[in-house]
Parts: sequence; C-alpha cells; structure tokens
Amino acid sequence: MNKVTVLAIETSCDETSVAVVQNGREVLSNIISTQIDLHEKYGGVVPEIASRMHVEKINFVIKEALQEANVTLDEIDAVGVTYGPGLVGALIVGVVAAKAIAFAKDKPLVGVHHIEGHIAANYITHKALEPPFLCLVVSGGHTHLVLVKDYTSYEIIGRTRDDAAGEAYDKVARAIGLSYPGGPKVDKLAREGNKDAIKFPRAMMDDGYDFSFSGVKSAVLNYINGAKMKNEPIHNADIAAAFQSSVVDVLVSKTIALAKEKSLDKVALAGGVAANQGLREAMEEASKANGIKLYYPDLSLCTDNAAMIGCAAYYEFMGGKRSGMNLNAVPNLPIGKK
Ligand code: KG4
Ligand code: ZN
Repeated sequence: MNKVTVLAIETSCDETSVAVVQNGREVLSNIISTQIDLHEKYGGVVPEIASRMHVEKINFVIKEALQEANVTLDEIDAVGVTYGPGLVGALIVGVVAAKAIAFAKDKPLVGVHHIEGHIAANYITHKALEPPFLCLVVSGGHTHLVLVKDYTSYEIIGRTRDDAAGEAYDKVARAIGLSYPGGPKVDKLAREGNKDAIKFPRAMMDDGYDFSFSGVKSAVLNYINGAKMKNEPIHNADIAAAFQSSVVDVLVSKTIALAKEKSLDKVALAGGVAANQGLREAMEEASKANGIKLYYPDLSLCTDNAAMIGCAAYYEFMGGKRSGMNLNAVPNLPIGKK
C-alpha cells in the first residue's frame, strides 16, 4: 500500500464533518457543516438538536467529502471516526455511519479519540512535526497538558479541575452580551480593551500543572454585578482584555514551565482556543525567550473538523489499531485508551 486513504467522520459536538485524508497529512477534502446558528439562540449547544441535525446532514456531508476528494468508497483503505469524548447522541450518529460503511464495504474501522484528533491537526499544518512534544489542548470541553510521546502514545500531565478554557470564554462572552460561541468574539473585543484596567485572579494553584478557570469566570461575573449595582459604567472591551490576559498568563506560564521541566524544545497548541490571537502571540513570545519551537494548526483546523480525525486515524491504523463492529460512543473516553 503506497498510499493510505482514510475516510474520517467527526460528529462529537455541533459540527457534522467528513474528510478524506491521504497518508495522514494530505487533506483531499474536509467538509464541515456547522450548526452554530441553530444553537446560538439557546446560548450553547443543545444536545438533542445536535443529534438530530447530525442525522439529517451526515449522508450529504459524506457524499460531498468523497466527491470533492474524487475518491469512491471502494478506494478507501480505512474508516476513522470520533467515538469519544463528546455528546453521546451526537457521537453515535458518526459511529453508526462509520460502522455502516466499514461493514458494507468490508473496510477496517478505526475509532479515534477526539482530543488525539485535535493534537493531530498540528501534523497537517506542520508536515515535518514529529513527536515527542508537549501539547496544550484548549477547547470548549477540555484543557489538558499532554505529553505526546509518540503518534499513538500520550500522557496527561495537567488538566482543568473545573471549567475548560473555552467554556470560561463562552460564559464570560455571554455575561457581556456576546452570542455563542463567544471565544472568538471575546478575542476580537480584547484587542480594543486595556488588559490592566481590571485585575482578575490568576489561578496558579501552587504552580502544579492543573488548571482552574471557574475562579476567573466568577470574578468577571461579580465585577459586572458590582458595577451594575453601583451604577458604574461597564467597559466590555476592558473586561474582555483583562479576562483574556488572566487566562493566557496561566496557560502560557504552566506550559512553558512544564516544557522546561521535561526538557522539551517543541510545544504545540490544539483545540478551539488555539485559534486565540492573544494566546498565540503570548505563546510565541514566551517560546522564543525559552528556546522552544511553537506549533499551532491553521485556524480552520483548530476547531472541530474531520481532517484532524483522519490524521489521527491514519497513525492508529498504521500502528495496527482496528475497532470492531461493537464500537460504541464513549462520552467520557479517557485519552490514550487503546
Ligand atoms: O475544539 P472546539 O471546536 O470544540 C470542542 O472540542 O470543545 O472548541 C470550541 C471552543 C469554544 O468554546 C469556542 O468559544 C472556543 O473554542 N474558541 C475560542 C476561539 N475560537 C474558538 N476561544 C477563544 N478565542 C478564540 N479565538
Ligand atoms: Zn473539539
């Protein structure tokens, strides 16, 4: 087999996405049908709506991905699919579709961990990137410091004890009147604000590698309530800038400290919050100052997409992983589970 072609499916949250990826890093197609506008009016993802929309869209998205890549199901070498973590009803739609194709066409099935997919997005953007490296995974549901030992071997060293970074962004966004998903909007607004106008707490938690973002989120909500009660003006841009600076400071300092402790000179960012301009800039600066090379995926590969799942599936497939027809959605799937 000189070319390995993977059809990949991702339906863990609110994007129905299907991709065709060759040899792990060459994306032939990556179709993303987003449901954001449907969830926006509820202020967050409604699981029931997400599942129903995946059911409606999945066949069309599969067809489009194959058409754009100009390959047929017969030419596929393996089917990769996110089977966790995520919303159970949403995951099941992708898993069932992948199983149906694998069964009907007698193709190997490879279940993929969503976070391992986010990490793999870096391989698509940076063709020469190889493990080992340290990866800061920051998404709507996860905040992890992961030691990527090899393409299919991971060790989690730090994790959030409460809110994920993206979740804190979305909640703060809501408090200052920005619609879901608020992360990118807070990021944009932060550029117009003064980060030193308000001082929000930085949860360093005695310098371990775990995170906590519920404190800064509550501090923002308390600040807004206090200002409202005292009839003081509220400057949303300053709030956004001060909040972002608090989150970014913690993320950057813990990541750099861990990279130094482990003597790793490569650090990658992954997940939706890796799209954050403030985080990228601060990471870039701190990495340079410490002789570390920084990697992050193209903007379009930071948030949920199937190309990253296709990349992770390729490495799992080459490593010999095969999932059975009993593959099921696992909403709280731990990272690194074989
Ligand atoms: O990785 P992702 O698409 O979904 C999960 O697996 O959770 O991440 C979505 C999260 C949302 O919370 C969204 O607000 C956040 O990523 N996000 C951002 C930015 N772009 C997306 N947060 C901060 N700044 C951004 N530019
Ligand atoms: Zn994600």
